[in-house]
Amino acid sequence: MTPYLSREDIGVAVARLAEQLDLDYRRRPPVLVGILKGGFIFLADLVRQMKTPIQGIEFLQVASYGPGTVSSGRPRMVRGIPDGAIQGREVIVVEDIVDTGTTTAFISRYLERRRPASLEVCALLDKPARRQCQLGVKYVGFTVPDRFLVGYGLDLAQRYRELPEIYTLEEGAGPG
Ligand code: PRP
Repeated sequence: MTPYLSREDIGVAVARLAEQLDLDYRRRPPVLVGILKGGFIFLADLVRQMKTPIQGIEFLQVASYGPGTVSSGRPRMVRGIPDGAIQGREVIVVEDIVDTGTTTAFISRYLERRRPASLEVCALLDKPARRQCQLGVKYVGFTVPDRFLVGYGLDLAQRYRELPEIYTLEEGAGPG
């Protein structure tokens, strides 16, 4: 494994995203919807950096990857949110990574049906080279190339989520 993003890199990006969200949501406290499992660490760090009071935190669990590194392309809703949890609310979906975009598009459709006042996506990592769905990710920490990344919530067959840094599985591949 090769180090890709350090704790410091991630900390700076999370602080910047929190600042952007504070600016945009200062008059309309949001409900954050964290996407399990990968988004749990990012969400925890993000809410502690934000100064805006949060109206609520919900979790959705969607799974598209099996034991390997390739998406099945068919997201499954493993855990939904309670009825009425986001109706009329300002909703921010918090994702660790948007890759093909299949998961985020699926989640957006699910949440839109629950009639939020607004819906935006905040992703720590965005991998536009692999995108298969048209979608707007308004808040992005890092735009990353097409490499398999692990750590800071991201797994390979459920491993490596606990690492405080982000690594690429390829040998000798640095950022860029
Ligand atoms: C990962 C990641 C995103 C999704 C992105 O989740 O956390 O939710 O894949 O991929 P996509 O843009 O190609 O859909 P995964 O299905 O691996 O579940 P996990 O978060 O529980 O590991």
